[in-house]
Amino acid sequence: MNVIERESHAVMQTYGRTPVEFVSGEGSWLTDSEGKRYLDCLTGLAVVSVGHANPAVASAVADQMATLVHVSNFFYTEPMVELAERLNRLSGLDRVFFANCGATANEAAIKLARRWGQRRRGTECHEVLSLLDSFHGRTLATLAATGQETKQAVFRPLPPGFSQVPRGDIEALEARVGPGTAAVMIETTQGEGGVVPLDTAYLAEVRRLCDEREVLLIVDDVQTGVGRTGSWFSWQQLGFEPDIATTAKALANGLPLGVAMAREDVATAFEKGDHATTFGGGPVVCRAALAVLDEIEGRDLLTNTTERSQQFRDELTSLDGVTEVRGRGLLLAAVLETDRASEVAARCLDEGLVVNAVQPDAIRFAPPLTISPDEVTTAVSRLGAALR
Ligand SMILES: Cc1ncc(COP(=O)(O)O)c(C=O)c1O
Repeated sequence: MNVIERESHAVMQTYGRTPVEFVSGEGSWLTDSEGKRYLDCLTGLAVVSVGHANPAVASAVADQMATLVHVSNFFYTEPMVELAERLNRLSGLDRVFFANCGATANEAAIKLARRWGQRRRGTECHEVLSLLDSFHGRTLATLAATGQETKQAVFRPLPPGFSQVPRGDIEALEARVGPGTAAVMIETTQGEGGVVPLDTAYLAEVRRLCDEREVLLIVDDVQTGVGRTGSWFSWQQLGFEPDIATTAKALANGLPLGVAMAREDVATAFEKGDHATTFGGGPVVCRAALAVLDEIEGRDLLTNTTERSQQFRDELTSLDGVTEVRGRGLLLAAVLETDRASEVAARCLDEGLVVNAVQPDAIRFAPPLTISPDEVTTAVSRLGAALR
C-alpha cells in the first residue's frame, strides 16, 4: 500500500487531502515522491514564510535540539524571554503569552479578555463579538467565535458568550456591544473567509467604538501577521492599534507556535495560575521564531513582500479568466469568472503550482515572503496554463 492508502486506514478522516505526497522542499519549491517539482504558493497555509528547509532556521533548531529541548514553564529559558522582548518591540504591545498554534493563541486572548472584563465590570462582562465569515480556530471556544455556521453546526452546544455580526457594518456592531461585552475580535483580512480585506475606514470605526464603550479590540493576526501583509503585523499599515493580538502560523516557519500579545494594563489581568500550557514557549520553537524574525529583518522581506504583491497583482489581473485580485501583501486571492476554483487548483497542481481554492470562485496565493520576481512570473503563467 502507498502512503495515501495507508493514511485512509490509519488516520481519522477529517481532511479532504489532495493526492500528492511531498518528500522535500527548498526555498519556494517542493518535491513529491515521484520527483516532480512544484512552486509552492500556499506554504502550508501561510506558514513557511522564509522558505522550505531554511538553513538559518534549520541550524538554530538543530543547535537548540542538541542543547536543551524542554523544561516546562516551572523554569526559565532564555530563548522564550528573548522572543517575548523581540515581539513586544515589533508589535508595540507589552507582554506575551506563549501558546502552540492559532487556536490556542486565540483561546488565550479570549480568556484574557474575560479576565479583564470581570475585573472591570464583574462576571457578566465576558462576551466576545466577532464577524460573520471569520475564522478563529477549531477548539470549542474559538469555533464559537468563528462566524461560520457550517463549521459550528455539528458541535453544538458551543460555549456561550459569543456572537457574530456582518463585517463592514458598524451599526450592527454598535447595536450589539453592551455592558456584557468584553471584546471585539477581528481579522484585518479574513483569510479562510475568502481573503477579504476589511476596509481601513471600518477598522477605524471599530477602534473608535471599542474606545467609546471601553471594550477590548482583539486582532487575530494568525494568518496575516509576521510580515505576511508587508508590515510586521497587519494593523501597522492600517492606522490603528489593538489591545490584544494573536499570531501563529508563520512565526516558527512550520514548527507549532502561537502567541497572544497584549498591552500592559490588559496583560496584567492574568494572574499566576490563570492560564498555562505544557509546551508553550519551549526553547526549540522560540529559537526557530528568532531565526525567522532575523531572516525577515536581515533580508528585508517586508519590502520584498510589498514589491512582489504589486507584481502579483499586475500579472494576475492581466490573465484571461481572472476578474479581480484582492488581499494585502502576499495573502492574495485571484477571483475567477466562474465557480471552478477547485478544478483550477487541481489543474495548477498538474502544472506544478501549489495554491488552494479558498472560495468556489477564488484561488488563494500565500507564497513564501522570499519569493523572487521570476518565481512570481512562473506562478502566474502556471495559473494561466491551468485556466486555459
Ligand atoms: C485567522 C486565523 N485564526 C486562527 C486560525 C487557527 O489556527 P490553527 O490552525 O493554528 O489553530 C487560523 C487558521 O487558519 C486562521 O487563519
